[in-house]
Amino acid sequence: MDLPTDLAAALAAATADIPLRELEASVDRLIARYRAPGHAERPILGGRVDAAAYAAYRMPATWGAVRGALAAAAARVAGLAPTSLVDVGGGSGAAAWAAAGVFGGSLRDITVLDQVPDALELGRRLARDAFAGALRHAEWRQVRFPAQVPAADLVTVSYVLSELAPDAQQALVRASAAGAETIAVIEPGTPDGYQRIMAARDVLVGMGLRVAAPCPHSDACPLLGTRDWCHFASRIHRSPLHRRLKGGDLGHEDEKYAYIVATRLPVPAPAASQARILRHPQIRKGLVMMQLCQPDGTVAQTLVSKRQGDTYRAARDADWGDEWGGAQDNERSAASEGPQPSAD
Ligand SMILES: C[S@@+](CC[C@H](N)C(=O)[O-])C[C@H]1O[C@@H](n2cnc3c(N)ncnc32)[C@H](O)[C@@H]1O
Repeated sequence: MDLPTDLAAALAAATADIPLRELEASVDRLIARYRAPGHAERPILGGRVDAAAYAAYRMPATWGAVRGALAAAAARVAGLAPTSLVDVGGGSGAAAWAAAGVFGGSLRDITVLDQVPDALELGRRLARDAFAGALRHAEWRQVRFPAQVPAADLVTVSYVLSELAPDAQQALVRASAAGAETIAVIEPGTPDGYQRIMAARDVLVGMGLRVAAPCPHSDACPLLGTRDWCHFASRIHRSPLHRRLKGGDLGHEDEKYAYIVATRLPVPAPAASQARILRHPQIRKGLVMMQLCQPDGTVAQTLVSKRQGDTYRAARDADWGDEWGGAQDNERSAASEGPQPSAD
């Protein structure tokens, strides 16, 4: 995926006046800090350079993750067309940009809440010339949680929870969901990010919301208690600045993320065959192997063979994170036979 051209241009312009070595030093510090997630007594983003460095090296990836989560929910819930968005801990607005991309047809009002004025100021600057009117007119408000979260059709909490103590994480999810029609919580796709998502999922299901994505059910996650964890990936093309700051030669990066989207809107009961693909499908000669999370709350290893014609061709095109509706036609090996640890 490529960043929207208006966001890419705004990021390039907003970082152009900061010496590269200052951005690099800040990126090194932020990478070290985020590698050891934990409660932050003070804001991690310490000022204008940190806000710009975060936007340059992380915002494309978190944008891609939120976009993936929201697109999956939109595909499942036909009535999901939010007119208002509140982005909790939104920083420079990655989730707001993602929501504007997925819900451009409906989204009118955006409010971004964060404790760091420099991140909000950068977000305002990035959005100044955005193609989407909702971004250009967004409100950027300084708030330090715990605090009340305004009601909205959609509330996003993207890559925020790890900076809070566990009790405060639950309280923030509860406060964010209180006035939300739909809420999306996104975290890094690590085992501990997945655990935070599972805790958020418990809070949301306990509040009576239904899971819109990724799970095709609201029962307990079948991966809990195994060595595996539910996560997905979004491939983002890197800009030259992004490449320089991350010190890599690759033209892209794969952002692993875990997420939950829960809603008060009606969620259609998935057909018995509608599952979520939990890993890159493995393609062997004449055979596609998929790990699926199924509507009955189990995980299954599924084989689709070339003899299955259209189903096989669909399986070859299917990707990690997609819904899979061809399962009833497949030759299934034993369901829930114990998922293997992630190879990613
Ligand atoms: C890792 S950044 C994520 C930014 C953005 N949501 C994204 O997905 O790229 C975490 C953000 O949460 C904000 N944050 C963390 N704890 C907060 C608190 N107690 N009150 C307000 N904002 C907070 C930080 O200031 C920071 O901007």
